[in-house]
Amino acid sequence: MKFFATVALLATAVAAAPSQKLFNLRTSGSSNSSHNDLYLSVGHGLASDPLNSEAVFSGASASNAAAFSFINGTIILDTEAKSPWTLDLISVEGTRKGRAQISVKPTSGSGGFSISRQGVQGPSEIWDGWLWCPTNFEAGQLFPNLHFLSKTVQEPALPEGCDRIQLNAIPTSSA
Ligand SMILES: *[C@@H]1O[C@H](CO)[C@@H](O)[C@H](O)[C@H]1NC(C)=O
Ligand SMILES: *[C@@H]1O[C@H](CO)[C@@H](O)[C@H](O)[C@H]1NC(C)=O
Repeated sequence: MKFFATVALLATAVAAAPSQKLFNLRTSGSSNSSHNDLYLSVGHGLASDPLNSEAVFSGASASNAAAFSFINGTIILDTEAKSPWTLDLISVEGTRKGRAQISVKPTSGSGGFSISRQGVQGPSEIWDGWLWCPTNFEAGQLFPNLHFLSKTVQEPALPEGCDRIQLNAIPTSSA
């Protein structure tokens, strides 16, 4: 109850003053409890993509969690340099499992987010839910990554090895 009240308050605050309320993103709702209460962090990018970073799960401690703000449907990474890095959803052609990046040059997947008591929802044209997916070592990943279910491809219901999650906005203690 207290938790929902906190998120509802945050959503209200965001709507009223879309300025600098900082929050972390934390998982919930997984059927596998080891995929709940994990904070989203920003990891090193793929070798083939040095500009952008991956949205990774760093663990159950907030100490490595990335801080974000929400402005007009965009989820912006809080950096010291105030660089315009945003959470960006990238549909992979013909694939149910879409990718999440923290992009410096966001594509069309970086707008249309909303925050409610169900957590963060992605842009409705492409987003069908969040996924926890295991580390893809071949792709140069070091941590499990955030992915999303693409709306345009319905099969398989759940990509192999991945788990459905919610992403909740938790106000940072310093904000
Ligand atoms: C739960 O997740 C952990 C870590 O990803 C995994 O090792 C374990 O096999 C999963 N359990 C089930 C029942 O799927
Ligand atoms: C908010 O986003 C919409 C859609 O991208 C855009 O048309 C509008 O100008 C933006 N408003 C502000 C205040 O940035």
